[in-house]
Amino acid sequence: MRILSLFTFISSLALFVNAQRFVRFISTDNREYYGDAILPGGTTDAAKSTHAHVIKGDILGDFEITDEVKKIKKLLSPLPSERVRTVRCVGLNYVAHINETDSKIPKWPILFYKSFTALNTPSDPIPVTEGYQTQGDFISKMDYETELVIVIKKKAFNISDDEALDHVLGYTVGNDVSHRGWQIERGGIPQPQYSMGKGADGWAPWGSAIVSTNIIPDPQKLNIWTKVNGVMMQNETTANMIFGVKHLVSFFSMGTTLMPGDVIFTGTPSGVILGKANPVWLTDGDVVEVGLENVGTCTNTMRHT
Ligand SMILES: *[C@@H]1O[C@H](CO)[C@@H](O)[C@H](O)[C@H]1NC(C)=O
Ligand SMILES: *[C@@H]1O[C@H](CO)[C@@H](O)[C@H](O)[C@H]1NC(C)=O
Ligand SMILES: *[C@@H]1O[C@H](CO)[C@@H](O)[C@H](O)[C@H]1NC(C)=O
Repeated sequence: MRILSLFTFISSLALFVNAQRFVRFISTDNREYYGDAILPGGTTDAAKSTHAHVIKGDILGDFEITDEVKKIKKLLSPLPSERVRTVRCVGLNYVAHINETDSKIPKWPILFYKSFTALNTPSDPIPVTEGYQTQGDFISKMDYETELVIVIKKKAFNISDDEALDHVLGYTVGNDVSHRGWQIERGGIPQPQYSMGKGADGWAPWGSAIVSTNIIPDPQKLNIWTKVNGVMMQNETTANMIFGVKHLVSFFSMGTTLMPGDVIFTGTPSGVILGKANPVWLTDGDVVEVGLENVGTCTNTMRHT
């Protein structure tokens, strides 16, 4: 009896510790699964995973990581878009990015929203519809922004910085796709208009995996980057955030309930096209990879539609 309960205790402990890299995927039977990604040797990038342990239940509630292993045919975004009630995004959260855009360091986090229809898988094209393409002298100024993305696990209202991480499921990487023409030129200078410049369908690719807070106890020391067609364009560390993960979660919970499944894009480091002396904007066919250390990559192609 005693040995049995000790065994049960140890195995439930193992189950708890094992919740690591939450993915959602289509398998070879063409069905959708949640899973715990099995990393191939020599990488921590779940985008490279070919198999996952099937997760039964709800990753935002009670769930179980099973022994059943399924082959991954296609990785989806880690949660269906409809389960994400609110996509919060932070502007101007890294000093070098503030410098390159001639902006001022904000005293409080700058918040804007995207619709959940902006969410995109970690591999599908980023659609650039006609209204965002070049029309005469209004240039299609498409830009990338790599960002650490926080995924909320349980309701948070009026919580402190110290309580914040208890409400976080984990972290992933996302691309805050931006059209600088709609954001700035047509944004009512001097105030930018973030939502028209950043909120179109498919303009928030995220994933592949939500990496749990067990694996990443400290989100403020991760290398974060963007490559365009294989060339490094952004490469900094989340240590440079002005407002860190804990403070963002606590600050946004002021008078507002953060819901399970809500995501927070935490702002981009320096190196965006907007900051360059001779900008070469993203165009049809450009491949954009955003990456975060210990989390992996999310790679999407710009597609004029
Ligand atoms: C930002 O610009 C200021 C003023 O030019 C400079 O002192 C500072 O080193 C810059 N910081 C970064 C992180 O680039
Ligand atoms: C917010 O939290 C603080 C500190 O715990 C507490 O004093 C205050 O009453 C709370 N406010 C609301 C609106 O719940
Ligand atoms: C990116 O930054 C990391 C950490 O500072 C560094 O090790 C790496 O060499 C950089 N890569 C490139 C291509 O600049």
